[in-house]
Amino acid sequence: MIEVSNLVRTFGPFRAVNGITFTVPRGEIFGFIGPNGAGKTTTMRILSTLLEPTSGSARVAGMDVLEYPEEVRRTIGYMPDYAGVYEGIDVWEYLDFFAGAYGVPRERRKAAIEGVMDLTDLGGLRHKLATSLSKGMRQRLILAKTLLHDPAVLILDEPAAGLDPRARIELRALLKELGSMGKTIIVSSHILTELADMCTSVGILEKGSLVAAGTIASIVERLNPGCTLVLRTWEPLKAVEKLVTLPGLEILETLDASVRFRHQGDERAAADIVAALVGAGVPVTGLEEEKANLEDLFLRITRGEVQ
Ligand SMILES: Nc1ncnc2c1ncn2[C@@H]1O[C@H](COP(=O)(O)OP(=O)(O)O)[C@@H](O)[C@H]1O
Ligand SMILES: [Mg+2]
Repeated sequence: MIEVSNLVRTFGPFRAVNGITFTVPRGEIFGFIGPNGAGKTTTMRILSTLLEPTSGSARVAGMDVLEYPEEVRRTIGYMPDYAGVYEGIDVWEYLDFFAGAYGVPRERRKAAIEGVMDLTDLGGLRHKLATSLSKGMRQRLILAKTLLHDPAVLILDEPAAGLDPRARIELRALLKELGSMGKTIIVSSHILTELADMCTSVGILEKGSLVAAGTIASIVERLNPGCTLVLRTWEPLKAVEKLVTLPGLEILETLDASVRFRHQGDERAAADIVAALVGAGVPVTGLEEEKANLEDLFLRITRGEVQ
């Protein structure tokens, strides 16, 4: 649905986007992650036809952004990284104004506005002044506006920036719902963990280049093969004695009542480890997988520590 190929954008001598290639298939939620200045907004503005590429190409629903800008604009909903709301009008008037601007036919406008207010949970606020909304509500209103013409593709630039944790959770639920409605979504953030659990895949951008792309699990696996397991036992030393005799294991840390180790195998191999420990008389009270520390991984990637 979104295809970016060798995309370059320069500003004078400066290459803000330095030849990136990625695709987002229909129905995916693609997290576009990178520190400030990485080139996320530049790329999203190109996809939204607001900025022309210097070279390379960007296509939305099979249409090149340079060849078919009008059609692309009709297909997408773009939420810029900061958007204001107007003074003196309420939520309903705000949405009605944009429904008109987006060319939603007059007879369908009311239903379209009700629909997006419903989706974004703004119905109760229809007579509130747009400028009096909290930051979280305001982001929802801007997202509602972005959805008025029922676009198939959403391009959302840092929609969670500046939201409190609760508003963030609500936004995440909303994006997931839009994803399940079949919309293709590209959403940016400078915080990996903010997007990790709602994206089907991510691309990590650093100084205009894509340094990693794919599902989070595949990126973690590539950068950090195997998984970290935590064994609970009240005899950690005895456990270590046995663990060091098993293949494909690396002990990371021995604590009072647990041992952390890395292991390359699958679940079956993990079951074999438990059997071996129990066979050796180690009191095993639990074995669980430790989640990869995404924030740590992200910092390592963007510091150039891993390739
Ligand atoms: N219109 C512009 N003129 C000059 N430099 C720009 C312009 N827009 C963006 N840049 C530069 O391009 C780089 C990438 O910016 P941007 O795409 O906004 O990054 P991000 O959204 O990832 O924070 C930054 O260094 C920024 O200063
Ligand atoms: Mg930006």
